[in-house]
Amino acid sequence: MTASGEPRDQIAIRHLGPLKGTIRVPGAKNAVLKLMAASLLADGRYELTNVPAIDDVAIMGELLAALGVRAHSPEPGRLILDNDGDLVPLAPYELVERIRASINVLGPLLTRCGEIRLSMPGGDDFGARPIDLHVASLEAMGASFKFAHGELHATADRLHGAEIALTFPSVGATENIVTAAVFAEGTTTIDNAAREPEVVDMCDLLVEMGADITGIGTSRLVVDGVERGSLKAADHRTVPDRIQAATYLAAVAVAGGELDIVEARPEHMENLLARFVEMGLDVSADAGRLHVVAEGRLHSIDVPTLPYPGIATDYKPLIITMLSVADGAGIVTENLYPGRFRYVEELIRLGANIRTTGHHAVVRGVPRLSGAPVRAHDIRAGAAMVVAGLAADGVTTVSGVQHIDRGYDDLVGRLAAVGAGIERI
Ligand code: EPZ
Repeated sequence: MTASGEPRDQIAIRHLGPLKGTIRVPGAKNAVLKLMAASLLADGRYELTNVPAIDDVAIMGELLAALGVRAHSPEPGRLILDNDGDLVPLAPYELVERIRASINVLGPLLTRCGEIRLSMPGGDDFGARPIDLHVASLEAMGASFKFAHGELHATADRLHGAEIALTFPSVGATENIVTAAVFAEGTTTIDNAAREPEVVDMCDLLVEMGADITGIGTSRLVVDGVERGSLKAADHRTVPDRIQAATYLAAVAVAGGELDIVEARPEHMENLLARFVEMGLDVSADAGRLHVVAEGRLHSIDVPTLPYPGIATDYKPLIITMLSVADGAGIVTENLYPGRFRYVEELIRLGANIRTTGHHAVVRGVPRLSGAPVRAHDIRAGAAMVVAGLAADGVTTVSGVQHIDRGYDDLVGRLAAVGAGIERI
């Protein structure tokens, strides 16, 4: 540990030449955490597969254990959750403040137990990350909320259906409304619902458990409430991680080479793949596999981030890193988290030419970056630093790797296996 208590681990990267080989994409962090939270809804044993080996899964496992659901992993990729119905709807601060997805226990516990005490959620620091849409929607379903001492106390005898029109297609709010509506009296409709593949994955599990949900994958979800106790535990395979798949595309884009990215879901990344082709990547996709060839210098493009099926904000640090060595200038506009540009200073430390103004970044490509010590400020920014190291002369060392470990399953090992000069030190 360093003096500030941060793990001393770092990742060292050097460009050794084109990448070549096959990388398997693990399950999605932003799906599996919600699948785990859904296990609060019904007693029994759940088996989740394609579970990524990431720290956030371990933290969510600890949180579920504190709430009354036992989690254990008999082997890598498999997670068993045992819910014997002895739930304690009190989510401890020291766990909740570590991950944003802790907010996803709100809907299940409120609708199942009629009450929950939860401190305000943590997670990556992008500036303000309010939960007003969660609260307003659950209040429309009959819940009451009290805030005191940094803690949210929500109660509801039995929630009732409601017509909810979200002012923004929030992923987390959509997920909490759906889980809460599963046992609500009557029908809940959600207009402008989030359509992310991870939201779909959670809804699919709920239907496998016996919930009555229609419109999955569209911006209008309809949930007909069923009796408490009528849901059953179920097994489910986690959807692949499109953000991790994009990370390996970005790596080969800046290092050059040829990769097969398997167990991906190209249909979840259509918009991004089209933009990467515009940038000069040769990408072909068939069932569960992406084949990519990167030759020559990338071309600059302009990109706005948007809710799904738009370009996800989580892809943006990767895109800005690619643009920093592309031919020309590109403007990237952040429409979800205006403050999500902290990694830009780190890219500038590596010699990138980037100016941010408001929620825009103007990136003027340079031929090469130059290796230096940089810091990972959050999960996606950390992965972008590793990709940047593959586009730099000399050695780049990335500190703050605990952020990367939260959301990436063996990033170093997967890249090293296809020829990247990368190691954990
Ligand atoms: C999920 O966060 C993901 N996290 C994020 O990924 C991702 O960036 C985000 O969705 C958008 O795609 C998880 O799934 C754990 P939102 P979430 O509610 O649910 C505003 C990663 O790196 N908003 O869709 O918190 C909010 O401020 C992480 O894996 C409100 O104003 O995102 C933001 O501007 C980072 N009020 C926008 O909506 C609310 O009540 C999107 O937030 C809720 C959200």
